[in-house]
Amino acid sequence: MKILVVGGGGREHALAWKLAQSPRVAKVFVAPGNAGTALDPALANVPFDSVPALVEFARTESIRLTVVGPEAPLAEGIVDAFRAVGLPIFGPTQAAAQLESSKRFAKEFMRRHGIPTADWGSFDDAREAHCWIDSREGRVVVKVDGLAAGKGVVVAETTADAHAAVDAMLSGNAVGSAGARVVVEDCLEGEEASFIVMADGAHVLPLASSQDHKRLGDADAGPNTGGMGAYSPAPVVTPAVHARIMREIIQPAVAGMVAEGTPYTGFLYAGVMIDAAGNPRVLEFNCRLGDPETQPIMVRLTSDLVALLEHAITGTLDTVAAEWDRRAALTVVLAAAGYPGAPRKGDAISGLPAAAAHPDVVVFHAATARDGDLVRTAGGRVLGVTAIGDSIRQAQRAAYAAVASIHFDGMQYRSDIGHRALARRG
Ligand code: AMP
Ligand code: GLY
Repeated sequence: MKILVVGGGGREHALAWKLAQSPRVAKVFVAPGNAGTALDPALANVPFDSVPALVEFARTESIRLTVVGPEAPLAEGIVDAFRAVGLPIFGPTQAAAQLESSKRFAKEFMRRHGIPTADWGSFDDAREAHCWIDSREGRVVVKVDGLAAGKGVVVAETTADAHAAVDAMLSGNAVGSAGARVVVEDCLEGEEASFIVMADGAHVLPLASSQDHKRLGDADAGPNTGGMGAYSPAPVVTPAVHARIMREIIQPAVAGMVAEGTPYTGFLYAGVMIDAAGNPRVLEFNCRLGDPETQPIMVRLTSDLVALLEHAITGTLDTVAAEWDRRAALTVVLAAAGYPGAPRKGDAISGLPAAAAHPDVVVFHAATARDGDLVRTAGGRVLGVTAIGDSIRQAQRAAYAAVASIHFDGMQYRSDIGHRALARRG
């Protein structure tokens, strides 16, 4: 069968790589893809990403299954458009995707369904937001209401920083129209984990746990990014924490969406903060897989992803389980000069074959483009060097050994991916 993956980042390369391993798959198309998906003979890039063009392509190519990576086409209604013409697709409808596309919607939804999250207020008036901030005792976090590609959140160190973030967002200068409204909330303490499930409207199948590294610099310093590295499993998600996240967050969310007439189908990602007592609280919902989290997760998945997706589309996820490699996987993101602000494009990348030749390593491409025989950087997060090993430490060693083979001008990466897991496990 032929499969279509929508998107062009590291998440989509990892998805397409995994889907192509299924014996039932003849070809995986990636729209628009990147240099990595172009170079893999099992994959083929298709050069467009508008929803009408994708519907047309899926129809003429008789695509049996479409999987959507990024949030933007989901928020635009790609799932509704495919379903309207009877094309099988896995993802949430536009209405369900509001769990990510509007932070206020997500916060109100959590309030309605008793899902634990930080106390918050939502404002389009700067003066009211300033008053709310002044009424809080501890630190606060300021978020734009709409989608901002991971850049619409300021974890304010001081009250003055919080006030400044409100002004910058509501003035429209920081993130444009996504910032016409802000959500301001208490800063939660603890350790963050990414908890991702597949949902078929009624049932859920949890994927392996993972942990991301949101800050640009070592020791979690510097600005927030889309994610500088990840690993799976996340030791902070103990069996007890796993059970609580399912019971207190995932199940009420899926039941709540049914109750509100917008059953949730697709990957559902809860970013959770777990405090010292093991209480999980939601930082955010995403209506998609995480990036880079998908990269270590796909490397550990031993089940046939096509079969899981078919169960998800037919509403039978309760009849399957996902099998995981017991080893750990870890991804180091290599980012371009200037990321996360204004990444520089066009730097030539060397050493990719040498990196891929390392044992237990896969180099997923994110923002890369082919230029004749060269591969060049084409955006912020350029590559995800992913390794599997008997422990987080071994996966980390293997990943960084491969990273050492790769070079491009201005390359930035963290040298401590996995540090929280290592602090727990040694
Ligand atoms: P979000 O896009 O809402 O997940 O925010 C991006 C990142 O900001 C999260 O992954 C956290 O690291 C941090 N963050 C967001 N909200 C909070 C909060 N209430 N308390 C502490 N950190 C937060
Ligand atoms: N890595 C975080 C995200 O995908 O939202």
